[in-house]
Amino acid sequence: MEFWRQPNELRHACERAREAGRRVGLVPTMGALHAGHLALIAEAKRRADFVAVTVFVNPTQFGAGEDLARYPRTLDRDLAGCAEAGAAGVFAPEVAAMYPPGEETRVRVGATAAPLCGVHRPGHFEGVATVVAKLFALAGPCVAVFGRKDYQQLQVIRRMTADLFLPVEVVGMKTVREPDGLAMSSRNAYLSPEQRSAARAIPLALTDACRAFARGERRAKALLEPARARLATVASSIDYVDLADPETLAIQSEDAAIGERALLALAVRLGTARLIDNVVLGEDAPPVAGAAGEAG
Ligand code: PAF
Repeated sequence: MEFWRQPNELRHACERAREAGRRVGLVPTMGALHAGHLALIAEAKRRADFVAVTVFVNPTQFGAGEDLARYPRTLDRDLAGCAEAGAAGVFAPEVAAMYPPGEETRVRVGATAAPLCGVHRPGHFEGVATVVAKLFALAGPCVAVFGRKDYQQLQVIRRMTADLFLPVEVVGMKTVREPDGLAMSSRNAYLSPEQRSAARAIPLALTDACRAFARGERRAKALLEPARARLATVASSIDYVDLADPETLAIQSEDAAIGERALLALAVRLGTARLIDNVVLGEDAPPVAGAAGEAG
């Protein structure tokens, strides 16, 4: 497996792969890789024959007071995982290589980035879109794979790719979950054992909503209120639990009925961990199998 530190090394490796007739696959990550990331690499390998993984904790997507400094950095382990997963190479640049002195350009995101996490993390999606645009520019034509746990991020990236005519096919991969249904996340490492056990309320809240939807419930409030109530019993605070349009992310009115597909998305804090999760009602399976009626 190759290892690239410089942006041009990634660019040239992808160019060489294309010249050799290979299709380039890109898996952008911030490292601290877990089984969810390995599933993204596996999917990229199904769709491409030269897979580059990027490991970069991107400072521009963190706000003041967020976890940039303590975000887990495990490069040696990440390299071993990528090699085992069959990546062709890993790009792990220094911050100064991605944001050299004098750089100032940012991708301005729009309505897709405004609700949900956009309200609570101002500037976050501008930082995500900027770094992903840089990575797409370096990798060139490729297929890029992202996880659906970061559903809004995926839609913002899809929007940007379409709006800027970037020659990249964006693929969203099903969320990989722990046996109890908690979505895998590098930030789960922040949870104490008690918080980790309480975090099971997140997939259970989503599961309750999936089951209510499957029984025919379409009133937004009737889907949201039980989820909020369950989460309130464990969360230090709730940023949001909302229903939104799965494509535009426009928030659904709580007094209206939803259609045959709707995004139920949430962000909650347990101690110092801010966890996000979602399901698309009418599309995704419940995160917890056989959990109907479980006590909170
Ligand atoms: O999802 C992530 O890990 C990051 O937001 C991404 C897409 C790699 C951009 O830094």
